[in-house]
This record gives sequence, C-alpha cells and structure tokens, in this order.
Amino acid sequence: MKKVIFIFITTLIVSCTTMETGRYSGLTLEEKLIEKRVDSVLNLMTLTEKIGQMNQYSTWGEPTGPGAEESLRMEDLKAGKIGSFINLTGAENTRIVQEIAMNETRLGIPLIFGLDVIHGYRTIFPVPLGEAASWDLERIEKSARIAAIEAAASGIHWTFAPMVDICRDPRWGRIMEGAGEDPFLGSLVAEARVKGFQGENLEDPNTIAACAKHYAAYGAAEGGRDYNTVDISERTLHEIYLKPFKKAAEAGVRTFMNSFNEIGGIPATGHPELVPEILKKDWGFRGFVVSDWNSIGEMIPHGYARDMAHAAELAITSGTDMDMQAGCYTRELDTLVMNGIIDEKLIDEAVRRILRIKFQLGLFDDPFKYCDPDREKEMILHPDHIEHARDIARRSIVLLKNDNGLLPISKDKKTIAVIGPLADDQDAILGEWRAKGLSEDAITLKRGIIQAIGENGTILYAKGCEIDDDSDEGFAGAVNAARLADVVIVALGESALMSGEALSRGNIGLPGNQEELLKAIHRTGKPVILVLMNGRPLTIQWASENIPSIIEAWLPGIRAGNAIADVIFGDYNPSGKLPVSFPYVMGQIPVYYNHKNTGRPMQPEQRYTSKYLDIPNEPLYPFGYGLSYTTFEYSELKLSSEIMGMEDELSVSVIVKNTGDRAGEEVVQMYVRDMVGSVTRPVLELKGFSKILLEPGQEKEVEFKLTAADLAFYGADMQFKPEPGTFKVFVGTNSVDLSEAEFALKE
Ligand code: NOJ
Repeated sequence: MKKVIFIFITTLIVSCTTMETGRYSGLTLEEKLIEKRVDSVLNLMTLTEKIGQMNQYSTWGEPTGPGAEESLRMEDLKAGKIGSFINLTGAENTRIVQEIAMNETRLGIPLIFGLDVIHGYRTIFPVPLGEAASWDLERIEKSARIAAIEAAASGIHWTFAPMVDICRDPRWGRIMEGAGEDPFLGSLVAEARVKGFQGENLEDPNTIAACAKHYAAYGAAEGGRDYNTVDISERTLHEIYLKPFKKAAEAGVRTFMNSFNEIGGIPATGHPELVPEILKKDWGFRGFVVSDWNSIGEMIPHGYARDMAHAAELAITSGTDMDMQAGCYTRELDTLVMNGIIDEKLIDEAVRRILRIKFQLGLFDDPFKYCDPDREKEMILHPDHIEHARDIARRSIVLLKNDNGLLPISKDKKTIAVIGPLADDQDAILGEWRAKGLSEDAITLKRGIIQAIGENGTILYAKGCEIDDDSDEGFAGAVNAARLADVVIVALGESALMSGEALSRGNIGLPGNQEELLKAIHRTGKPVILVLMNGRPLTIQWASENIPSIIEAWLPGIRAGNAIADVIFGDYNPSGKLPVSFPYVMGQIPVYYNHKNTGRPMQPEQRYTSKYLDIPNEPLYPFGYGLSYTTFEYSELKLSSEIMGMEDELSVSVIVKNTGDRAGEEVVQMYVRDMVGSVTRPVLELKGFSKILLEPGQEKEVEFKLTAADLAFYGADMQFKPEPGTFKVFVGTNSVDLSEAEFALKE
C-alpha cells in the first residue's frame, strides 16, 4: 500500500475539526474526515491519474454490452488510467488485479469492482418485477442483502442495481428488472433494495454500494422498443419517473447511472438539468454518477455530440463522473482541459465523488477485504440463502384465477400430468441478469412436484412444444399424458432471453405454439392449471376465458419448482399482487391504473366517449390484483375527519376479515384521488399498503395515515405542493375493487 496517502491521515484528524466552512460545512465528523482524506489524495494526483479514476472498463467476465475487451489493459492499469472494472469477479481474480493497482501504480489507489447483481449473485431470486409482486418490503430487502453478501464475498464492491425505472409498456424487455408501473410501490421497493445492498454500514465487508439506474425515464421508451426515444412532459417526468430515484437518493444510494435514452431531444447522459440541477443540487446527492455502457459515446449517433471530444465535454458538464466503457474520458478530457474547454475543477469534483465512495467502502484501509476465497466458499449458495430463494419466490406468485377452488390440489392425486416447455427448463427460470447464477442449481417445476409428492402419485411429463417455434410434433404425447391424468399442470411462458436488455417484444402473447398446445390440452376436458413463467405481463385473454386456474410465477429463480409446488399443493397460500397491469390485447398499451379521467370518460352506451370499438378500456388483470385460497371481507372504512388541515394527519381505517377457512396474507391497498386541481390528476394514486396475515375468521383493523405532503403534486406553476379541495380515498384488495370515502383539504 502506498505510504504517500497515509502520511496525511493523522494530520487530517486534527485539522478537519477546525475546518467548518465551505465544502465541509454541514458534514458529520466522519464525513469531514473522509473529505479531508479525499482531498489529500486528490492533491497528489496528476491530471492523467484523475481522469484514470473516471474511467471504467469491462474485462474478463461475460461482457454486458458491445465491444468489450478480453484483456486487462495492463499498461493503462499500471499507469493509473483505470479506476474501476466491470464484470471482473471472484475473490482470487479481484485480488490479483487489486494487487496491481495497489503495488504497481504510482499512488496505489484501490480499484472499485462493479457488476450487475440484479436479482441475486449465485443464489438467484425471482426477477425484480416478480419480487415486487410480493409487496413484501422486508423480504425484498433481504434478497438484496443476500445478493450483496454473496457478491461481496466474491470480490464485488458495487452493484448496478436497483433498476428503478417505472414502466407502463410491457413490450419493453426491461420491465422485468424493475418494480412495475407505480411510482409509490416503485419508490418503496427501491428504498428496500438500496438498504439491502448497502446494509447499515458500507464499511462492512458484506455490503456493496448500490446504483439507482437508469436515470432517467428509460422505461418510457416509445413503443416499448429498447433504447428508443422518450418524449414526456416535465410533470410526468417528476411525478412518475423520477420518484423512485428521489427515494433511492434519500435512502443513501451511493451511485446513479445515466440512461441511454434522450428525453425531449436531449440524451440523458448529456442533460444539463437531470444530474447537475435535480440530482446533485436539489436532492443533495454526494455520490457519483456512472454513465451507462458507452452512453457517452452514443451521444454521437443520437446526433447530439459531434465527436468523442464533444461527447466527453457534454457528459462531464452534465455531471457524469465515470465513463463506463466508452473511453471518451481517457481519450479526450486532458486535451479539453489543456485547451481550456473544460475547467479542471469539474474533473476534481468528479474524482472527489469517486474517491469518496472508495473511502466509504473502506477500500483505502483494506483494499483486499472483499477478496477472501474462504468467505467466498462459505457464502455462495449458503443454505439460508437458498431457503430465502424459495420463500421469496412463493411470495412473488400471483394467483390470477381459481374457478371452483381447483387449487390447491391434494398431494394424493393419483396421476398428475406436467406439461409444457417451461415445466422442466432449468435455464428460463433464472431469467436474464443472473450474475453468476447457474442453471444446474435450479429446481424446475417438474422436479419441485416430484419432491413435493414423494412416493404418493405418478407424474407424467411431456414437453409438448418448444418455447418459441411452430412445431406441434410434441402435442400428441402431451395430450396422451393429459388424458391419463387426474389433473394437468401446464407450464408456459418465456425463455430467459425474452425479457431484459435489448429484449423487447412486439407481440406479448405466449410465444410460438404454446397457446395451441394449451388449447389441445384443454380439449381433453381434464382440469387444467396453467402456470405462467415470464418476465413481463403477457396477453392471455384466451387462457383467462377458458382455463380454470392460472398462476403467475414470473421467472422465479433457483427454487422455482419448490415455490410453485408449495402454492399448487397449498403449503403456501398465495399472496402476491400484480405490480403492473396485464393488458387484454396489445392495442391497449399503454394501460395503467393511475391514468387520467379525460373529458369524456367511458360510458359503454355513449358513442362519443373515450373507448375502443373492439376492446375494453380496463386491463385483463389490474394493478394490485391477486387472489388467495381464502377470502377477505372489507368493512367499516372510516376517516378520522371529513376535513383535513394542511398540518393535520388524517387517519384512514378499515376492518379486514378472513372469511375463508385457511390462514392467508392480504395486501390492503389505499388510493387517493384529487377531484379538481390546477392541473388534472390521476383517477387513482396508490398512497399506502399493508400486508397482513389473518387466521380463518380473524379480523384486523388496518390504519393508514395521510398528511398534506402525501397529496402534493406539481401544479400549474410546477411547484410541488398540495392544493386545497375535495379528495376521495379508496381502500380495497386491488385497484378496482375498492370502497370509498371523501374528505376536504383546507388551507
Ligand atoms: C447496460 C445496461 O443498460 C445497464 O443496466 C448495465 O448496468 C450495464 N450495461 C453494465 O452491464
């Protein structure tokens, strides 16, 4: 380790207590200490070394974008021209590379190793959209905590997660990586994930820095086509798309990542307001911003930057502190400074932010603390992690339909047919962005069912068809199996590479010949349970009209089979609720619950109202929807007052009773509608939810609190504040089945 950095430390401790002004004011003693240490390092750095800290390359591991190198760029590394690697993993590999940085560069500044740890590291949990369907913030946080423990044990300091993009278009493949369509749920899930990754103290060697991405509005890509143009109003940007980012910043997320898209003509990576004004100034964000993969260079094809030099200039002046993979900063920044186009102070500010996080991670004190092969062996696939994988997977499952209580089925059914291309596919169930997840670790539905029933019955398995081709050769075998069975479970859906980055779909029905297979099985007249595994909402109108029981399992991770079997046999009573609307048909997209009313709200019999001739306005399954094996009754919706002052807290309470014969969890949801505003307001906005467990016959009072701040929005003057007037409050089991009450907000 380089002595040069450490001579400063003791003097700093003394001097920082006296420095209360300028950049240090308002900081805690600990923060001041770090600032002084950061400055001491910065003072020693040449311009080249500073720019080096702002440079990140992908190496060795699997590239997660175009044009990655399979080399370490040894010369650059030794010359201090690299501050971070992405995709380099493993306690031993990272130690080797960190040793070079520490011992063979002039200043010995530790590298920060980043990776996309999105829904688990080796122990893979459900895809994030699926986890969001659990509405279980504690367990979502736990998944991120476990992912951090495994990744940190494997040399990783930093994850490019959580992805907090709101999405109203299921064609977009990356809808799978987020928490769905709602900014309120999305914000709480973002907060839970940040807390999970970063833990209580970032210096603990089992925590990693998180990254809120993709800033901003990436989920609003036109037509749901990845990387496509975004053109939304400033109000929608703030009220819908920025909300989870703000929450992540408040939760202390250490880094942000730019998005690839433009917004209203300006690429996010070169946007003059998004980072400098909103993130760094208004929200007071003190961490650093990394570009997305070559998003600096991509400002050239966007038609916003003339060349790499111009792209580098735009990115640095727009607050992008680290260049992922474009090489624009290393190639261009020194000349830009030399020519007086960029002030070196901008570079100092970026480097300060990067070093700050390296200090906060404790890397200057022990650059190798994440490189312990024994810990790596112990933590990867730890039994507790696997147990959680099963627990969160079953809690993510949404029961979409269950006519005549077909589900759950008893374990002593004599013969069960398990059919479909997803029934025994170990790969699909892990989903995209699986970090180091391996399909050999995964338990399929077929295996899960065999494990659940043991010697009790006979399983007949038939694949029936592939996920995505048009052959029907396997249909006959599948139909035969169904005919011989007492009950048929059909597992259909998407492959792992049908959702995720660059995986948008123009048609979101069941791919290939799967619906035809389902129809063929249905014709046998046997009771059919459809299990869907997919990374996005699918259009499943035919299934919904014809198949008695439908389970939405998402892409559930390494314990998929056990989790789904737990639900099928009733060892777990499903409690998931949709975090995103399921459209009837493609032509409805975008369809989301928090839409506006229009001047001509739909009236079925009235021609000149807002509707389609051939399809309904409502989605097939709405936001917040999900069934249970028990039933819940809502009663006695009460407000503490019909009038609310600006300083008051309104209590909204309801009694929820389990009226069925088994214990179950219910997500009680509260929505609000501002009836008249200086700008129009959505017909519903989620403002609270509570997941409760009720024994049969048990009832509980659930109480929500509302303050004026909860009712604030960007009015005609673009000020974020509540406006007095009439509000409706709704409570219920999903965004459609609701009871309502009314109150007035007074000045
Ligand atoms: C591009 C993706 O948009 C981003 O989410 C990811 O973190 C980077 N590639 C790095 O893999």
